[in-house]
Amino acid sequence: MSQQPSPERILIFDTTLRDGEQSPGATLNVDEKLTIARQLARLGVDIIEAGFPFASPGDFEAVQKIADAVGTETGPIICGLARATKQDIETAAKAIAPAAKGRIHTFIATSDIHMQHKLRKSRSEVLAIAEEMVAYAKSFTPDVEFSPEDAGRSEPAFLYQVLERAIAAGATTVNIPDTVGYLTPSEFGNLIKGIKANVPNIDQAIISVHGHNDLGLAVANFLEAVKNGARQLECTINGIGERAGNAALEELVMALYVRRQFYNPFLGRSAESEEPLTNIDTQQIYKTSRLVSNLTGMLVQPNKAIVGANAFAHESGIHQDGVLKNRLTYEIMDAQSIGLNDNLIVLGKHSGRNAFRTRLRELGYELSDQDLNRAFIRFKEVADKKKEISDRDIEAIVNDETLQA
Ligand code: KIV
Ligand code: ZN
Repeated sequence: MSQQPSPERILIFDTTLRDGEQSPGATLNVDEKLTIARQLARLGVDIIEAGFPFASPGDFEAVQKIADAVGTETGPIICGLARATKQDIETAAKAIAPAAKGRIHTFIATSDIHMQHKLRKSRSEVLAIAEEMVAYAKSFTPDVEFSPEDAGRSEPAFLYQVLERAIAAGATTVNIPDTVGYLTPSEFGNLIKGIKANVPNIDQAIISVHGHNDLGLAVANFLEAVKNGARQLECTINGIGERAGNAALEELVMALYVRRQFYNPFLGRSAESEEPLTNIDTQQIYKTSRLVSNLTGMLVQPNKAIVGANAFAHESGIHQDGVLKNRLTYEIMDAQSIGLNDNLIVLGKHSGRNAFRTRLRELGYELSDQDLNRAFIRFKEVADKKKEISDRDIEAIVNDETLQA
């Protein structure tokens, strides 16, 4: 059996259109899905999980259209999700057929709690189904991904056995889901380490991770998984998804970008290597985030890392003064690196004289020290009454006749 080459970069598998769309209220129509898929391709994701074709005729149509329009030779792999049943797999195979590179992602739960209460199947039955359905999917496409659902709560020895059989049956990617967002970073890291050490044919597949954010740990868990050998990350734009959502693409990508010197050695590179860790064009991140938010109607919280409205905004006088003197004092990344024009100095009651003077200059006002002092006192009075001071407020302050007196 040939060895699956370890990718030189970490693969980004975007599931905004599948798991992300499972966010309550985030339903997208076919055209909206196509628009997002085109933008995901511009963003540079390696794999788009375009939907769950058996779930509805609309999902089938969306996956098929995306496979046709976005799944070009140079474009991303287009993936369709399928439970481990023949009907699901056949439907997924049909939907991804127009793609130059199509993947079937099939899954079955392997935790005792899921097998007993949801599937009502024994371990040996699940093992046999996983093996048989991976082989069935393989009869449609060479690119098959297998997920043991709820891997995070599965008995490790059984999990190793299922993965070994799935790889032997033809899975080229094995995805390890923390379906209920239960694991902590060190547990997730150890899970990947255990899989590497105990699944004899693991080198023939890429190890992927999938995680939910029920405890807010999905991104931290993935970063620990990368340190232990995971080479595909399943994530969504703005972290949308079932319940508390999935690991957020923008957070993972920017963590790997900003802290590349730390992560490089885990990919066998020297710490100083400037070779990117992912294929993502980070300058497309902000635009993609806005598009997904607008089309799904899922608002992005203002303090959301990377793409929140406040992520590059400085309000306090001490911070503003520092940033105006040297950005590195309070910024670990450039706003431009995610496609924003610039950072934002927000004028409010915590702002200082330096930020105020800088904004005045940007608006074309060069005040004497005396006028600046007067205007600054007035600015603080107004700022005590308003959450944020607009440019119009500032203009009103400098043009106020009492100030000229
Ligand atoms: O959370 C999960 O386990 C899933 C699987 C289908 C991979 O979404
Ligand atoms: Zn999921």
